[in-house]
Amino acid sequence: MIPSELEAHLRDSRFIGAESHFDVRWLASTPSTMDVAAKLATDGARAGVVVVADEQTAGRGRRGNNWSSPPGAGLYLSFIARPKVDVLPLLTLAAGVAVRDGIVASTGLWPNLKWPNDLLVGRRKLAGILAEGLAIGSADQAVVIGVGINLQPASYPPDVSARATSLEGELGRAVDRGLVLVEVLAAIREQLAQLEQNPGDILQAWRASAPSAVGTRVEWDGRTGVTAGVDDSGALLVKTADRVERIISGELTWHLGT
Ligand code: BTN
Repeated sequence: MIPSELEAHLRDSRFIGAESHFDVRWLASTPSTMDVAAKLATDGARAGVVVVADEQTAGRGRRGNNWSSPPGAGLYLSFIARPKVDVLPLLTLAAGVAVRDGIVASTGLWPNLKWPNDLLVGRRKLAGILAEGLAIGSADQAVVIGVGINLQPASYPPDVSARATSLEGELGRAVDRGLVLVEVLAAIREQLAQLEQNPGDILQAWRASAPSAVGTRVEWDGRTGVTAGVDDSGALLVKTADRVERIISGELTWHLGT
């Protein structure tokens, strides 16, 4: 059963009747909302089904990392998208813009984006996004997009506190989890519609919120370069001594300014 404080927010007119794109499924505890949403998508669930958990016991991040998910300390959700094939590469950037917009609308805090889809305050990570494709290229293709937002400092282990932050830690006050949830969902709906109609706007919004995408020193595979923006397909451009590299995935070490 959806907790009453969340349900009150989901009675928002944007989530009722024909206006509602989302079908929110609440779980008190689950290993990972990614797996629950993937199973639903494989069984034919429509775009807009959202799985939200109070706690994850095996939350995961990109590149096999663990995503710490203690009860009530973060917002942990996965939603099903069924985008047209040609917008797939921009989907995670659209999700990043949406999560940022939802955080701005619900809290007034303005995080930055870092390629491909981290949300940072200064150099510290506030939220992350994970996209996992299912049956890509087939008629049934779907993408499960997972969003983890640190609400409280308790959402991450103390040993990463130099690299992580939370909404409540930044704002110095309690944050309404239900309000963050509905504003993030409303922004996701908006950005996914934008992605189908005008993908160029997604790129423009993403670039405007990602200062580190230009002029930041990065290292990868033993090489170094300086970021030179994101191209129209969503790839990161990195200028090395002799050329511009196009990076579409992989682990980068970022030397962020203050
Ligand atoms: C990252 O930055 O590495 C991505 C983190 C994604 C975490 C979210 S929490 C909800 C969903 N369920 C998971 O197991 N992971 C994603």
